[in-house]
Amino acid sequence: MPDIIQLLPDNIANQIAAGEVIQRPASAVKELLENAVDAGATEIKLVVNDAGKALVQVIDNGKGMSETDARMSFERHATSKIRNIEDLFHIKTMGFRGEALASIAAVAQVELKSKRAEETTGTCIEIDNSVVRRQEPVAMEQGTSIAMKNLFFNVPARRNFLKSNPSELRHIMDEFIRVAMSFPDIFFSLTSNGQQVFHLERGSLKQRIVQILGNNYNAKLVNVQEQTDYMNIYGFVGKPETAKKTRGDQYFFVNNRFIKSAYLNHAVMGAFDAMIAKDSFPMYALFIDLDPAQLDINVHPTKQEIKFEDEKIVYAFVQSAVKHALAQFSISPTLDFELDSSIQHLDAVSKPFSDDRKTSIASSSLYNTFSQKNQAHFIENKSELKHWRDFYEPVPKEQRPLTGDMLEPATTPAYDHVPLYTEKRQQVQDDSPLQQLHATYIVVQNDAGFIVIHQQNAHERILYERFIKAVDGKPIAIQQSLFPQTMELAAADVMVLTELLPDLHYLGYHLEPFGNNTFVIQGTPADVDQGNEKTAIEKMLEQYKHFSNDLKYSKREKLLRSLAWQQAIKAGKQLTQKEMKSLVEDLFICASPNITPNGKPTYTQFKKYELDRMFGR
Ligand SMILES: Nc1ncnc2c1ncn2[C@@H]1O[C@H](COP(=O)(O)OP(=O)(O)OP(=O)(O)O)[C@@H](O)[C@H]1O
Ligand SMILES: [Mg+2]
Repeated sequence: MPDIIQLLPDNIANQIAAGEVIQRPASAVKELLENAVDAGATEIKLVVNDAGKALVQVIDNGKGMSETDARMSFERHATSKIRNIEDLFHIKTMGFRGEALASIAAVAQVELKSKRAEETTGTCIEIDNSVVRRQEPVAMEQGTSIAMKNLFFNVPARRNFLKSNPSELRHIMDEFIRVAMSFPDIFFSLTSNGQQVFHLERGSLKQRIVQILGNNYNAKLVNVQEQTDYMNIYGFVGKPETAKKTRGDQYFFVNNRFIKSAYLNHAVMGAFDAMIAKDSFPMYALFIDLDPAQLDINVHPTKQEIKFEDEKIVYAFVQSAVKHALAQFSISPTLDFELDSSIQHLDAVSKPFSDDRKTSIASSSLYNTFSQKNQAHFIENKSELKHWRDFYEPVPKEQRPLTGDMLEPATTPAYDHVPLYTEKRQQVQDDSPLQQLHATYIVVQNDAGFIVIHQQNAHERILYERFIKAVDGKPIAIQQSLFPQTMELAAADVMVLTELLPDLHYLGYHLEPFGNNTFVIQGTPADVDQGNEKTAIEKMLEQYKHFSNDLKYSKREKLLRSLAWQQAIKAGKQLTQKEMKSLVEDLFICASPNITPNGKPTYTQFKKYELDRMFGR
């Protein structure tokens, strides 16, 4: 009898090993996004076709790879991220196994392009079934693009196990969201079959959560934040009324890595306790940071399960922190965090850290990296956008004025909207003059200190919400022109404008096609300067076209944004007291007063106690 044991050829061994890491297109999405994050990118774009079955591509502006590294990156166990077994317990990158690219190359056709800042050309490598097919220099910007095509083209059995496109796309979006949420200071976009699904500008954690989970959460997030020597927690939980019937918007991140933990979920559910119905699920996005030595990440190939050195402390800490946050916002009866018995009796809390332990943790450079890594939460602290309510109580929807109905004389000032609601003006001393700085910022005193409003950003928000109401069936009044002007456009613009005519009519612009690429301006919104209608429309079209690559937005949405941008009073414009007051009042009856439609802040709160502190008071 001959010997029967044979070594598997490399590519088959690789395919088998890949099975653990790459189970579906979404697994590749996760791995490629994490590599881009590890490469220090500030902009990461994900493109998928056919729910990732045909294409998953991630383009980043990170540090890129040398020619040799680009080639090496596809080798199994090839990594730049750890060097020895000790490092495994101090991991600060998302990757560390050196498996992901090797696995992807074993089950798909891959094209990698990468360039480092210091090199003049990049490297392009094509590889399939673990075999390099082509390698050549390529001209490109710094960064890396990895395209994975035709997943499982060489493993038909696994291809047949893939689910329908909607289901695979859902998995992709889940992975995308998990990475995007934990790095709010990185720009992310997701394009699926040419349609942009997400376009996430850089911002605070809160802004990122709202961008991803929707505006409904905007005023409904409770800030969670506790720090100890042992661990930190920060993030947000949804107010109890936002709890949903299906589990979904629940996220735990440990040292910025998304994890699944039924145990910690139980801790949060316990904190909500009687505040929500038994069968409903609160939203949460909670970030736990602790010394990596207290964790084992390497328990599962996808790294979504981790082991804590002391699970009980983490449980008690998470629960207390959430209870405390809910109590602080007077959502549950006040609890004293210090005295919460569930945490108090634990050794780690009741017995002080030994000095040895303390110094060893505090001096570990990795620990420091992690504790400084809470960037999102620091940004959050700085912007403090949440206390606008200190200034005004929102006017109930039904009492809000229909601002578009305003009719004003033709010669109106820059900001002419006279507030219609007076009965609900809260806490405003009408006689206290407002201050305009640099013809751009309006300073308003409020109970908590003062806020500084950016007049252009604020007005953009006001107009945008007014326009939404207008297209929702409460059209803006049109002022018919006495001497209708005509305007001639380029052929391409004629097509664009023609499509927009019906919506423009709702928004107060009455335009009629007049043949030969010409339109007649029959009327304009009553509260917009007359005399420069032509320029206004041209500028609006310009902006609209600028948005036109943004497939995420509908035509109407693009139009609203363009118009708001075009009509907003600009920075540098002197405003009268009356104009400033109207602007402030209109801003705070907006549904989302704190950001422009494009996510820029409209105002910043300065706290009196912080000023006092600065002056040693
Ligand atoms: N987008 C990228 N930009 C720069 N370098 C990259 C990029 N993607 C991968 N690399 C390099 O290729 C190596 C291999 O990547 P791969 O994802 O296979 O392994 P890893 O990230 O080190 O570990 P893991 O398997 O846990 O993800 C990385 O260690 C990194 O040096
Ligand atoms: Mg990796």
